[in-house]
Amino acid sequence: MIMKKIDISSNINGIKLPLCIMNASGVLCSTDKELSNLLHSFSGGVVTKSCTYKPRKGNVLPRYFEWSRGSINSMGLPNFGINFYLNFLERKKINKPIFLSISGLSAKENYFLIQKANESSKVTAIELNLSCPNLLEKEDMLGYDFDKVSNFIENIFKFNNKPLGIKLPPYFQDAHIKNIALILNQFPIFFITCINSLPNGLFIDVNKESVVIRPKKGFGGIGGSIIKPFALANIHKFYTYLRKDISIIGCGGISSGKDIFEHILCGASAVQIGTQFMKEGISVFERLKKELTLFLEKKNYSSINSFKGKLKNIQ
Ligand code: SIN
Repeated sequence: MIMKKIDISSNINGIKLPLCIMNASGVLCSTDKELSNLLHSFSGGVVTKSCTYKPRKGNVLPRYFEWSRGSINSMGLPNFGINFYLNFLERKKINKPIFLSISGLSAKENYFLIQKANESSKVTAIELNLSCPNLLEKEDMLGYDFDKVSNFIENIFKFNNKPLGIKLPPYFQDAHIKNIALILNQFPIFFITCINSLPNGLFIDVNKESVVIRPKKGFGGIGGSIIKPFALANIHKFYTYLRKDISIIGCGGISSGKDIFEHILCGASAVQIGTQFMKEGISVFERLKKELTLFLEKKNYSSINSFKGKLKNIQ
């Protein structure tokens, strides 16, 4: 029997990913060792931990907890500062697209970080994180501030020349997704990544009758398989409302090849793995690659483009 070749590479608006699966920012992508592991792994691209201008220790421990169906975190952007990530990339032979995730604490800091990223030939694209829910110094998240976000992005495109995408928080109303898509459609954005963790979740240890993480009295961002329905809903609605040349990178609740299929069916061009990468380690990419290939083989699809965005309604 001749096996049909199944193409699970992807193209994010001209950025070629050898495999449509990569890591989500924040998970095992902060240190030299973690980033080197990712460069040598099966992942189709490398996303760095969201960085700030100065190094940050992040929030107090314990700040991450996982259970069978999910995770809660309040990391608080621990990172070594943008220079660490740019220096790391300078020293390395790069064999796949690099997404430098940035999350400045102010608009001004973000402009500075984007300027720095523009100066590095090793950065393929910038993933601008507008959705970190865990900062003690600011409660508001730009991704939820429709008035400020438009002006902010307009300023960025006055000087930015790098491919740029935006990591968004989850939205829970159709009108909110429509509004933010209308704003994003006005700019030469390459991609969006959706969704970041569900903000302000709470997980309880019933034996101790206590929260499980220390920062913010236990409140944190929820990830893992329990958030998949929200990720799929956001991807599918954005696929409807965004300009067709803005790609969607799906993130949220992926732990199997079938989950990746669902994200792509809703309109994602590639996916990121967060909680499951944390649980399983670097081998997750090879396993998911195999599972997705087998799943598509059974479905008789030869590439992700054959079914991308083609989710059917019940007539
Ligand atoms: C964190 O460092 O608190 C997580 C980052 C994020 O969710 O964007």
